[in-house]
Amino acid sequence: MRMYDIIKRKRDGEELSTEEINFFIRGVTDGSIPDYQISAFCMAVYFRGMTVRETCDLTYAVRDSGERLSFSFDGVRVDKHSTGGVGDKTSLVVAPIVASYGVKVAKMSGRGLGHTGGTVDKLEAIDGFRTTLSDEEFVSQVNSIGLAIVGQSRQFAPADKKLYALRDVTATVDSMPLIAASIMGKKLAADDDCIVLDVKTGSGSFMKTAEKSRELARLMVDIGKNAGKRTVALITDMDRPLGYAIGNSLEVIEAVETLNGRGPADLTEVCLALASHMLSLAGKGTVEECRRLAEEAIADGSALSKLVETVRAQGGDPERILHPETFQRAKYSCSVTADRDGYISHVDTESYGIASLLLGAGRNTAEDSIDYSAGILLRRKTGELVHKGEELATLFANDRALFGPAAERLRAATVFSSEKPAEEPLVYDIVT
Ligand code: URA
Repeated sequence: MRMYDIIKRKRDGEELSTEEINFFIRGVTDGSIPDYQISAFCMAVYFRGMTVRETCDLTYAVRDSGERLSFSFDGVRVDKHSTGGVGDKTSLVVAPIVASYGVKVAKMSGRGLGHTGGTVDKLEAIDGFRTTLSDEEFVSQVNSIGLAIVGQSRQFAPADKKLYALRDVTATVDSMPLIAASIMGKKLAADDDCIVLDVKTGSGSFMKTAEKSRELARLMVDIGKNAGKRTVALITDMDRPLGYAIGNSLEVIEAVETLNGRGPADLTEVCLALASHMLSLAGKGTVEECRRLAEEAIADGSALSKLVETVRAQGGDPERILHPETFQRAKYSCSVTADRDGYISHVDTESYGIASLLLGAGRNTAEDSIDYSAGILLRRKTGELVHKGEELATLFANDRALFGPAAERLRAATVFSSEKPAEEPLVYDIVT
């Protein structure tokens, strides 16, 4: 079998066999297929797509490319995974809520991908926080305090780690089969009992329409269920950034605010919806009952305490959570103001994510390092009336030269109208 022929067949729109897909993933994992052929394959899939059978084969091959999490955990384990968005810091809020009820959350998270942020990058904004734990440390922390959040370790779905990094820099992230295999391959390798998927929809997500997001959700839920996992997908809005903060430490601060009961309404609502489904799948009651549990965990401070406990256990400085004002701030800030009166009728959320990346909060190439203090604080959001000269957003960076291109991007991505736009839902659908 030759990789050249597999790329050519996919390029020409043919259906690949299970053996061809296994050959590809084996070669990605053992390094025998060079990056340029992997990238060409991803681009061919991007344009030609895959059948459900091919996508399932790809998912299982990714799952089997490394070890499975075979340790013994006490009790039910639940995970949630987002398809990626801008300002999406929900994991930092929902994982401690769920763990505060004794449900185990053994979370393997990703780094930023394309214009979207990643939980691992956000956690590394906390001084000392270790996103790599030994297997023994990981299991023992989950068993003792109920929550651990780590990056994808080498042993789990290593093929995805390689593919993820290459897709990120070759414009091949937003492909339905590649996303489904990436997410579900990892989730099945982690072997959780329950999986809640947060499938984003809109201008800041990889799936821009609700129809495409529903299709992706259906596909992933079916893959999860076929593998014997209790799986639910929520289709949530990403036509505007979630909350007001974009950028790593800014997002941790907003997540802490949310756990303190002072979070933005949209972020709080999506977190409560996700947490209630996670608790319900784990057997804690109906979704409605579990929503009340989630609200209580915020109101009585138990979710915040769980986050502090987790940060401490993973070597992070708990002061950052207890006193988020101690996060190091970027040296410079810059206001972006409205150049006309009107309602903000739409924002191109992907461009907002790219603006944050341009300030240093994300990567342009796989090797780039991140500026944790860089990012954007939105002052106005979709639906609000603004007047010429009013501040739309504050940009933060450690190099003033970065402000111009980021401000330009942000302004061009903000659409005004004289009419108040219709309100869009935050949770579009639930796929069970
Ligand atoms: N998150 C993942 O883990 N993989 C993708 O492909 C997209 C989002």
